[in-house]
Amino acid sequence: MTVLLVFGLFVVIATAHNITYLEVPQYGDPRRDGDLICHYVSEKGDPPLHSVKWYRDNNEIFRFTPGQQPPTRTFNTTAGSVSRGACNLNSCSISVVLPRRYNTRISFTCEVSTEGPRFAVVNQTKYLTVAVTLKEDPVITGASGNVQLGEDVLLNCSTKPAMPPANIVWYVDGRPEKTEPWMSDNTEVSSADDFGLRSSWRPLRVRVATARGFIAVRCEANQPTRPPYMRSSNATLVVARSPHLSMYTASGSSSADVAMVLATCICVHIFSKYSALSEV
Ligand SMILES: *[C@@H]1O[C@H](CO)[C@@H](O)[C@H](O)[C@H]1NC(C)=O
Ligand SMILES: *[C@@H]1O[C@H](CO)[C@@H](O)[C@H](O)[C@H]1NC(C)=O
Ligand SMILES: *[C@@H]1O[C@H](CO)[C@@H](O)[C@H](O)[C@H]1NC(C)=O
Ligand SMILES: *[C@@H]1O[C@H](CO)[C@@H](O)[C@H](O)[C@H]1NC(C)=O
Ligand SMILES: *[C@@H]1O[C@H](CO)[C@@H](O)[C@H](O)[C@H]1NC(C)=O
Repeated sequence: MTVLLVFGLFVVIATAHNITYLEVPQYGDPRRDGDLICHYVSEKGDPPLHSVKWYRDNNEIFRFTPGQQPPTRTFNTTAGSVSRGACNLNSCSISVVLPRRYNTRISFTCEVSTEGPRFAVVNQTKYLTVAVTLKEDPVITGASGNVQLGEDVLLNCSTKPAMPPANIVWYVDGRPEKTEPWMSDNTEVSSADDFGLRSSWRPLRVRVATARGFIAVRCEANQPTRPPYMRSSNATLVVARSPHLSMYTASGSSSADVAMVLATCICVHIFSKYSALSEV
């Protein structure tokens, strides 16, 4: 950063290092330390690096001062501690112990200052949310066997343990599952495991009543984190056409149709996709 200061006849150029990239994971799993890295560059004519400081929610937790012995210092704050730190003239990485308070949002700031006479300072802040996000897409079960017109198909969608637990929403042919007041329409959640993680599931009953040859179902598992985290799975139920009816409609039609008629198995295609909504 270059700041031009004019004092009477003198022109003083005070420059600071430039923070090029601050790496803070969007979600931090409290079962392991969070790794943060601050990258910075000095530009031509910059005074030497004076210090790099890390702040957690505005409390200083770590300092690197290359001109001092020892060059690094950690500050034990009530907010938590730094388990490791390694810095040089271009980057400074630290590992922080994360609290087991799920959904807590922590700000981390990297601040770089240059030597005098002006001690120019730049900083950058990013946020980490304590959460164990889903590492896999939810699993749809019950989609095997024959699906016939008029049949009730019972599906189940479940997730691996996560925290906070996911809320599950089903979509049938793009429309959210219809829930009646008398239905238990909440996602079921398991008891907590040793680390407080919980898995979620939600059954869905689908009445096969379509003139089309398939039903598209989608299961979305949403974790109510800040920002929200979502993973989903799709399944297609192919409805076997009645062979009796098809014998008539198949006459004179294409061989593809005949193959469809003869198909007695049900084909289920499962597609998966995940997405994390973009950083706030
Ligand atoms: C910092 O570095 C970026 C990328 O190299 C550059 O675009 C930006 O102008 C620099 N900022 C300052 C204040 O020097
Ligand atoms: C930080 O302080 C706590 C209690 O105040 C202590 O248990 C812990 O060992 C300290 N950690 C470090 C790295 O000094
Ligand atoms: C970062 O810099 C801004 C001004 O540029 C200042 O208001 C803020 O207090 C600084 N943050 C920290 C944590 O030092
Ligand atoms: C759905 O899956 C969950 C998790 O595997 C299981 O506990 C639950 O009993 C299943 N429900 C039904 C209706 O199959
Ligand atoms: C899953 O289905 C939804 C609509 O229900 C669609 O928008 C999405 O692209 C599908 N994903 C995959 C991977 O096929």
